[in-house]
Amino acid sequence: MAPVPSTELPPDIHAGRILVLDFGSQYTRLIARRVREAGVYSEIRSHDIAADALEAFGPRGIVLSGGPDSVTGSNGLSIPESVFRTGVPVLGICYGMQAMAARFGGTVQSSEVREFGMAEVRARGHSELLRGIEDRSGPGGEGLLDVWMSHGDRVTALPEGFRTIASTPNAPIAGIADPARQLYGLQFHPEVAHTTRGGAILRRFVNGICGCPAVWTPANIIEESVAAIRERVGPRGQVLLALSGGVDSSVAAALLHRAVGDRVTGIFVDNGLLRRDEGEQVMETLAAGQGVRVRRVDAGPRFLAALEGVEDPERKRNVIGNLFVEIFEEEAERAGGAAFLAQGTIYPDVIESAGADTGKADVIKSHHNVGGLPERMRLALVEPLRELFKDEVRAVGLELGLPRDLVFRHPFPGPGLAVRVLGEVREDRLERLRAADAIFLEELRRAGWYERVAQAFAVFLPVRSVGVMGDQRRHEPVIVLRAVQTGDFMTARAARLPWELLEIVSTRIVNEVPGISRVGVDVTSKPPATIEWE
Ligand code: XMP
Repeated sequence: MAPVPSTELPPDIHAGRILVLDFGSQYTRLIARRVREAGVYSEIRSHDIAADALEAFGPRGIVLSGGPDSVTGSNGLSIPESVFRTGVPVLGICYGMQAMAARFGGTVQSSEVREFGMAEVRARGHSELLRGIEDRSGPGGEGLLDVWMSHGDRVTALPEGFRTIASTPNAPIAGIADPARQLYGLQFHPEVAHTTRGGAILRRFVNGICGCPAVWTPANIIEESVAAIRERVGPRGQVLLALSGGVDSSVAAALLHRAVGDRVTGIFVDNGLLRRDEGEQVMETLAAGQGVRVRRVDAGPRFLAALEGVEDPERKRNVIGNLFVEIFEEEAERAGGAAFLAQGTIYPDVIESAGADTGKADVIKSHHNVGGLPERMRLALVEPLRELFKDEVRAVGLELGLPRDLVFRHPFPGPGLAVRVLGEVREDRLERLRAADAIFLEELRRAGWYERVAQAFAVFLPVRSVGVMGDQRRHEPVIVLRAVQTGDFMTARAARLPWELLEIVSTRIVNEVPGISRVGVDVTSKPPATIEWE
């Protein structure tokens, strides 16, 4: 249903924007996410951003991240002068504070004692940044904060015009401020969840000190995206979208549908490598539920034929990728002349593909399924999720009315179950894998574990192991269960699932799935293992 048009102008959700300059901290992304949680749009750029790029971005405030460098060495990264020419408030965190202190004539020294972990900070000097924000009060009524520290260097002498706003026994200058120039520094990390009042401190900075209104909300994001899509696509443009059934392409489909209605066509290539009932779920949710026009192509037999005899994992990926492109092109032709191709690129893809040293976030990692397609087919790209973090994509999905089940679905690889059937992919193997996988996921959900792990699935091993069923010895293939916990999927550890749950799953698989003799559990971390088995 289209939203009732409002007579009021919608807020400009990009108006009060915050620039996060990356000096190499592992927490830089967290800073940007916390700022957005405060309802303010933020982007991450490299520490050496060019002056004209900074001006073009037009930040209302700048946050300098931490980083591994030392300002006491000869090659510590410095802050571009253009940052201070903007005249907007600046908050330096950890290295960012040290670099700022050094820039304004303070002293930074390497300390014998590294401070790593929790610390109790005492707020001082009634600064705008920390006023009224505390975990508890000290004996003299001063605010005390539990914070996360991770530093070797520290500021030992204040620069001119600054005063101390926080201290710990180890770091007497743990926070600095020059209120006249609106420059602030914190030695601790407000972006890390261990700093319990960290969110409040960042909100104070962006909403209070920088004066950015809290307008970056799912409802406003949708409203603005819809307007932006309409503007880009024009009154008659047709859009194609490759639907995978995953969260990103589903949210993109719902958003595009709200913007241009029937002028978006989702092409859902069922490659026969999907999990049980997945194809039906996509059709039910997007086509029947959301009213998105979806062409479903049942191409399972074509994929299986192409995969016959292929055992090498890289070849499997190639075969699947090429055939996908071929089928997508055929279907696009059939759907009529579209001028736009929509992709579910999200902000972490944009950050990852930006050269770390150039900071130009404009090289796009193509969606694994449609890489190369836009150029080949001369289609212009539409990327409605390009500015969103994964949790924002989910929030937008819920706001658009997509079911929770879909919105919180685990990621699923483009080549599908082909990377989870080791060796040759054959229908009888896929069928056993689908059955075992469905049992595993069903029991995880029942036990409340599905949303507590980042990804969980079954793997089919084409080795034969002996088993006894009734009085008969059988030699049958093996299923392995994989469940991992991770935030970024770059590193992961095996989820510690309860033994009782694993026993239920194993018993059910061996009893209910004909042709499986044994169930194992993968407890390897990534690295050295990967999440998928390939
Ligand atoms: P690995 O196995 O490399 O997987 O540890 C990391 C994450 O990426 C997913 N994955 C893929 N996703 N297309 C995708 O869209 C692919 O080809 C692909 N291969 C792996 C994997 O499921 C895990 O979440």
